[in-house]
Amino acid sequence: MPQPTVRLRRSLLWLVPSAVVLLVVAVLLARAVRADAAFAGFFSAYPGELPPPEGMPVGIPPWLNWAHFLNSFFLLFIVTSGLRIRSKERPPAFWTRDPARFPRLSGSPKRLSIHTWWHLVVDTLFVLNGLAYLVLLFATGQWLRIAPLSWEVVPNALSAGIQYLSLDWPVHDGWVNYNSLQQLSYFATVFVAGPLALLTGLRLSPAWPAKWTRPNGVLGDRAARLAHNGVLWYYIAFTVVHVFLVLTTGARHNLNTMYASNDGDGWLGVVMFLLSLAVIAGAWWFLRQRITALAKRTGNVREMPALRQPKG
Ligand code: HEM
Ligand code: HEM
Repeated sequence: MPQPTVRLRRSLLWLVPSAVVLLVVAVLLARAVRADAAFAGFFSAYPGELPPPEGMPVGIPPWLNWAHFLNSFFLLFIVTSGLRIRSKERPPAFWTRDPARFPRLSGSPKRLSIHTWWHLVVDTLFVLNGLAYLVLLFATGQWLRIAPLSWEVVPNALSAGIQYLSLDWPVHDGWVNYNSLQQLSYFATVFVAGPLALLTGLRLSPAWPAKWTRPNGVLGDRAARLAHNGVLWYYIAFTVVHVFLVLTTGARHNLNTMYASNDGDGWLGVVMFLLSLAVIAGAWWFLRQRITALAKRTGNVREMPALRQPKG
């Protein structure tokens, strides 16, 4: 049986060239569709975005910039700890709740790998940030910017998608209005992927009551893990495409809107974005060796002896 890394390398050997060929075919097809007079009516009926509904605010406020930054910050630690749990590698330590510190919590404390403990800590911050974002989104009317309010969003998203693929990209000003493809993907990220991560994560967590688990079906371990992993791959794919498009469709303007709350073409957004990356990298570097020490402040930690390297 080949090793997983060998299998991965073999799969990549045919997956990458196939993806490139598919992409080239899709670009050629999209360009042909856009050049064909028969489709001109479709593109003028569905230009790629819906007119903004009445009362929709213009601009991206600073609180949204902060929520967006914190979301990326927490996601990095969630994804990396999730991948460690998924790899089933031997954790360097295990954490158990200290009953003396939490005498009111019932049930015997469960032992968690340090990766799961850290995953749950950052999940809590991610969820709190998500809740604050949602409250402000609805309180300020910003939800109108990402909620698809008519079925016309579907053909418009198709139109925007063909325009992106044809490499003649839709004119876009995220400060005023998102195009339909952005609207659908932001809506899915906020209102589908987020809640699905939370629900399936809670189902897998020790907090989930044992009487509500089933061997199979929607409440089963397998289904929850499959859906939870699906969210992981969705977030990774979304982020790659999202950041690629942000940086290739007027990067300075886009970064100003989401990192400096202005719609100019100056350099402030770029500076703030680079600063945010530095903060994320700094936190990553600082926490690298300190997670077990942090865990010790909140519970009983049992460190595992280092594995002996095989000789030769
Ligand atoms: C760190 C790299 C990232 C950059 C540079 C970035 C940049 C941006 C920009 C410029 C916008 C405004 C849209 C536009 O004008 O086109 C935006 C919106 C958005 N981004 Fe990101 N983004 C990043 C990471 C992420 C991640 C990791 C997620 C979630 C998985 C995310 C989710 C969203 C959502 C949901 C919106 C719409 C928010 C709203 O208007 O309420 N972004 N992003
Ligand atoms: C929103 C709140 C979340 C909660 C409460 C949560 C909770 C959990 C729990 C309890 C586990 C199982 C740990 C174990 O088996 O020891 C887990 C695993 C995992 N989580 Fe999360 N999680 C959340 C969000 C996320 C997000 C947003 C992602 C990805 C972007 C993610 C990625 C993963 C991965 C990849 C695994 C490993 C799954 C496997 O074993 O196959 N989680 N999570």
